[in-house]
Formats: sequence, structure tokens, C-alpha cells
Amino acid sequence: MGLKKLITTCYKNQNPELFTENNSERAIYLEYNGEKNGRTIPTPEEIGIKPLRGDGDFRSPECVELLKQADIVVTNPPFSLFREYVAQLIEYDKKFIILGQQNAITYKEIFKLIKENKIWLGVDNNGTKWFRVQDHYDIATESRKKIENGKKYFSMGSIVWFTNLDIKKRHEDLTLYKQYNPEEYAKYDNYDAINADKVSDIPIDYSGGIGVPITFLDKYNPEQFEIVKFRKGDDDRDLSINGQCPYFRIVIKNKKAIV
Ligand SMILES: C[S@@+](CC[C@H](N)C(=O)[O-])C[C@H]1O[C@@H](n2cnc3c(N)ncnc32)[C@H](O)[C@@H]1O
Repeated sequence: MGLKKLITTCYKNQNPELFTENNSERAIYLEYNGEKNGRTIPTPEEIGIKPLRGDGDFRSPECVELLKQADIVVTNPPFSLFREYVAQLIEYDKKFIILGQQNAITYKEIFKLIKENKIWLGVDNNGTKWFRVQDHYDIATESRKKIENGKKYFSMGSIVWFTNLDIKKRHEDLTLYKQYNPEEYAKYDNYDAINADKVSDIPIDYSGGIGVPITFLDKYNPEQFEIVKFRKGDDDRDLSINGQCPYFRIVIKNKKAIV
């Protein structure tokens, strides 16, 4: 890929392979400093294995020092520490492409960043993502495992890419074709917005608030839409229609509504 440098840290691990067993109080990191032999794939000798002083916790001062050197962070962080991990990337003003659970969108801290256009969903968020793993990697759940052409793949369920790198789809207008009519689009009890159950139901000609499912974020182009609110109405309760709450709604406005 022509990378100038690549640093990867392990967590509680001494094994330079990808999959950590978390069995060591001290960890290592690997540093690749660009291709020296003119080949496209680095040889193990070109990748230096260096010891860390501690266990490789991303919050440790030595890992923060490594983070500071990075232009772009690409990783699959521990999902239980996702908020903290993203907060650190924002604090150090890093560009990133990271994996997270789809429902991380609904975390207050993450949604706030999405609303402020500081992070967004990356490409390829439709369907199951498969990751090539080594043959000995143990996958207990059958539905998360597949073998294709003799190669083993693993899937992690409903995960999506989160990024702050600009991508083409963020500038592509979603094609809308439905027209607003008050019979078809219910209004919420506790917020001045209409409800659209599917992204494809967003009317072309409504300039007020529209509640949409979180799958909208995969199609979100900030030149076309504005994100107004998440989940709650004016009374700080979940948005409801005749007392019934649809699953998590994001209230948006169509900036290009043809009215
Ligand atoms: C979702 S897994 C991804 C692992 C690996 N990148 C992969 O694709 O299999 C998250 C990883 O973060 C590691 N981890 C957990 N807590 C951590 C921490 N505080 N600092 C750094 N890494 C941590 C876990 O050991 C785990 O390997």
C-alpha cells in the first residue's frame, strides 16, 4: 500500500499474530517502516517487534505516545470501551476508520458526535462483514464462521465502520420519490415531526422534522439533511405515536425539500 509507517500494539499479549490471548501482563508492539526490499508484502525481518512497558492498554501513556505519531488509526477496539476509545481519538484529533457495534450509534456520546458531523458511518455497512482469519482461530458460533476456497472467515454480527475520513457517499443525495400527505405520515405525540418507518419513505416535499430509523445514517449526506434530535420528544420521553414508541428514531430535516 506504500505505507510510510505502520505501528500496531497488542494488548496483554506477547504474540505478534493478530489474535490476542490476553495472557501476559506485558505486551509488545510492531513497527513497520516502509518497504525496503521493493516487494509488495513485508518480510517478518522488516517488521520490528518491540516490548511495551505495560499491558498495551490504549489509555496508557506509552500507547498515547504511539497514538500521537499516527495520522490514521484503523482498528477494532474493545466494544465495551467504545465511548472512551472514540473520545480519545477525538481528543488527539486523529483521523480514523474503526469498527463498532451498530447500536453504538444510539450511545449519547456517539450520537452527539454524529449530529455534529464529527464522525459518520463508513462504507460497506450493508450485510454481514467477513474477516479472513488464520486456520487455527477457534470460532464457536457456526453462523459466524465460513470456509471459502479453503480459507477461513469470521463475522462479528451487526457491526459497522465509523470514520471521520471523507467518503464519496457522504456527498451523494438520497433519491426521494414519495410526497407528503397528512393521512400517510403520523405526527408524534411529543414532538413536532412526522414519522417515516423506512428511509425510502422520507417525503421529497416536507421541510419540517421527520423521524427516521437509525439505518438512515448509512445514507446521510449533510448537504441534503440536517440531524435535529435523537429519540426523545419535548418531554424528554421516547418519541411516541398515539402512545406507542417506534424503535429509536432520529429526527432529521430535509434541507432540499421541494415545497
Ligand atoms: C473487538 S476485539 C478486536 C481484536 C482484534 N483486532 C481482532 O480483530 O480480532 C478488541 C480487542 O481489544 C483488546 N482490549 C481490551 N481492552 C483493551 C484495552 N483497555 N486497551 C487495549 N486493548 C484492549 C481485547 O483484548 C481485544 O483483543
